Amino acid sequence: MKHTDTLIIEGGKKLSGSIVVRGAKNAVTKIMVATLLSEQPSTIANVPDIEDVRVVSEMIREVGGEVEKLKDGVIKITPASLHQPNTLALHKIAGTSRIPILFAGPLLHRLGEAKLPTLGGCKIGPRPVDFHLKSLQSMGAEVEENKKALIITTQGLTGAKIELTYPSVGATEQVLLSSVLAKGVTELRNAAVEPEIIDLICVLQKMGAIIEVGTNRVITVQGVEKLHGFEHNVLTDRIEVASWACVAAATDGKIFIKGAQQEPMMTFLNTFRRVGGEFAVKDDGIEFWRGRPLTSITLETDVHPGFMTDWQQPFVVLLTQAEGSSTIHETVYEERFGFTDALNKMGARIQLYQECLGGTHCRFENSNHLHSAIINGPTKLQGAEIDVPDLRAGFSYVVAALVAQGKTTINGIKTIERGYEKFEEKLRAIGTVII
Ligand code: EPU
Repeated sequence: MKHTDTLIIEGGKKLSGSIVVRGAKNAVTKIMVATLLSEQPSTIANVPDIEDVRVVSEMIREVGGEVEKLKDGVIKITPASLHQPNTLALHKIAGTSRIPILFAGPLLHRLGEAKLPTLGGCKIGPRPVDFHLKSLQSMGAEVEENKKALIITTQGLTGAKIELTYPSVGATEQVLLSSVLAKGVTELRNAAVEPEIIDLICVLQKMGAIIEVGTNRVITVQGVEKLHGFEHNVLTDRIEVASWACVAAATDGKIFIKGAQQEPMMTFLNTFRRVGGEFAVKDDGIEFWRGRPLTSITLETDVHPGFMTDWQQPFVVLLTQAEGSSTIHETVYEERFGFTDALNKMGARIQLYQECLGGTHCRFENSNHLHSAIINGPTKLQGAEIDVPDLRAGFSYVVAALVAQGKTTINGIKTIERGYEKFEEKLRAIGTVII
């Protein structure tokens, strides 16, 4: 009997059709937190129907905000009066999410204190929050940590000069959400400048903030006294677009993705074309297919404008279908290749290495982490039974199942639903045989 957390796919078919991709999980969830910086209501559009949006909605309710669905894809958040969350309840709601730490800034400004659970997130490495806490401390917050909770207090946050040792997405968002209402100027050096962060900055600017994104990863925030509500249409999820593009090329099909935007995906598009993928950019989306027999590549993941670490997993599956030896050097997370064991079980030939392969040296050099991969292709994949370890790896298993001959049973698809809207429906729309 089919379990609701299991998907059984009959692979080996060329998949073609049209699907819609909506707002980015990693932008919408932070924009939802930004609403708490004002007492006024805000409206967010192009919101995907995914588990992480439901989780953040619950977290916002836990601190006293109201979240209302106005219509499909549009939510209104009213954070008129806030209170401290029950950390246990918040921890339960948050589950594996890393969003709770970003409630620090809004709660500190509104209440002078933030009681937050210690953090989760996909199991793709240690994922510490030291940059977040250090940044808050430099802005005048005091941090106390016990086994169950983080207790952060302040007499009032003040602007500071902060330099990140690595351009962390979350820590940059932390500084933005904490500095917009701080007294004085905050200068953040070595900031992350991912398109999702720029989308958050656009929202904060709509709310009344003054933020300059300078050259060389320097972001300067001039604190203001008050922020107001906003209306915003979230940018498209470029991770989801890349995932479906890999499905098109890996199965030798053709998929039109309505909503896909070219500019935030330039690096992906170049890499996709280099290995033999092809695409056509239209006014309302991008169409992807295999332009020629796939060939190998050497690439490394990096912060924006580099090749995203979240594009890596479906791309690995694509490269199992490419002629030659491909090398991928993962420089963002130290343990993001564990998922390849299951692909090898399906017939892939992927070897992992501790060395920084491919030319550059990253901070994981000599650290015993298997953070480089060589993928030998093309290999025929065979159906198997596999368990989803994390969100992006989970989708890559779907891509592998679609390419494989025979049936693949994927257990743990609820993890994929955290970040891929209606993905089973989309699979059917492009002709997947789901048993
Ligand atoms: N890091 C630290 N200390 C910190 C924060 C980060 O050492 O205080 C390290 C991390 O361990 C990692 C690196 O810095 O090695 C980058 O982490 P970053 O803070 O940039 O990642 P994040 O904010 O936790 C977001 C996305 C991830 C995405 C990364 C990189 C969200 C909710 N998550 O994570 O997305 O991979 O940026 O772009 O926005 C996903 O969507 O599946 C996902 C994992």
